[in-house]
Amino acid sequence: VAHTTQAFPLDDYNVVKITRAGFRSSTVDNVAVTPKVMQLEMDLEQIELGRFDHFMQKEIYEQPASLRNTMRGRLQRQDGKVVLGGLANFAKELTKAKRVTLAAQGTALHAAMIGEYMLEDLAKVPAVAEYASEFRYRNPIIEDGTVIVAVSQSGETADTLAALSEAKDRGALSLGVINVVGSTIARETDAGVYLRVGPEIGVASTKAFTGQVAVLAMITLFMARRRYMSPDQCSRFIEELEAIPEKIERVVQHDAAIRKVAERYCERENWLFLGRGYNYPTALEGALKLKEISYIHAEGMPAAEMKHGPIALISDGMPAVFIANKGRQYDKVLNNIAEVRARGGHIIAVATEGDHEIKKVAEEVLYVPDIV
Ligand code: F6R
Repeated sequence: VAHTTQAFPLDDYNVVKITRAGFRSSTVDNVAVTPKVMQLEMDLEQIELGRFDHFMQKEIYEQPASLRNTMRGRLQRQDGKVVLGGLANFAKELTKAKRVTLAAQGTALHAAMIGEYMLEDLAKVPAVAEYASEFRYRNPIIEDGTVIVAVSQSGETADTLAALSEAKDRGALSLGVINVVGSTIARETDAGVYLRVGPEIGVASTKAFTGQVAVLAMITLFMARRRYMSPDQCSRFIEELEAIPEKIERVVQHDAAIRKVAERYCERENWLFLGRGYNYPTALEGALKLKEISYIHAEGMPAAEMKHGPIALISDGMPAVFIANKGRQYDKVLNNIAEVRARGGHIIAVATEGDHEIKKVAEEVLYVPDIV
């Protein structure tokens, strides 16, 4: 970005020859190809560290701004409408869709799992999120009316690309939820919605995860409005979505309290991350981040799964992070907390602001704003 604002992607089996006089692109059989030159819209500031210690930290703090960018111009609260230019030509197919399969890996899969829940819950379409690496090899059944959604920050993950091709070959309509403009998956899909969260330089995905969830929420509303949802209901969801960046601003202000908890428990070698419903994929994501960045063993799972075996692992003082927001399954989560405490686990609860009761059952509480 410091040196150019123009780039072009090379398609498979294409080559480029660069000389002092210029460049020529062609297929490997030497048939000339006219390159599709893109204008890069990044600026230097986006790839500089600024006041932060490392890019992962910068990208966590960037989330309010990156999410505003993701949603900008796409939500019409007054009319209870979501406008996604990338999907406009496929609105009919999406209205009639019989099944949505979301294929992804790692963090993107966790976002896809939240997408699965939202699509079933709000758009009332059967949905499933799958490891792309499993989907591509398991001879999947693609019925008429299936939509495949490839979720990927880079747009280059080989398994996700292969899953997409497999589903496309079997007749599915393909959508991309991608960050990198012009990436291979973005080019291979029939349509899609870009994340617009800016370049993610830190190796661990952070702002892309929240961007993916936001885009999947918008796709859900886009479909839901054409299927079952009233404009009023939709505008209430839009209002909540629009409030999220400001709520994240509040969460990152608690960084000193979060750091203290991290310091207190950083010597523990085994961690659990537990949640139910929408917070189950969030728990998986928390465990993945801890493994990847701290090299500490962590397991994420649905909170209710604990008692079916894994509870045997809990030893005295073992940290168990519970995503315990107020919501439909709050009481059930409290029961699961009690089970872990009975075995001597230390509870780190991520709870809703104003929930003082939770302090009675948790050693540590980290608060997040309420979200309906
Ligand atoms: C975790 C992480 C990975 C990626 C995964 C998929 O922090 O970054 O798990 O999410 O490799 O990558 P993309 O989204 O580029 O397909």
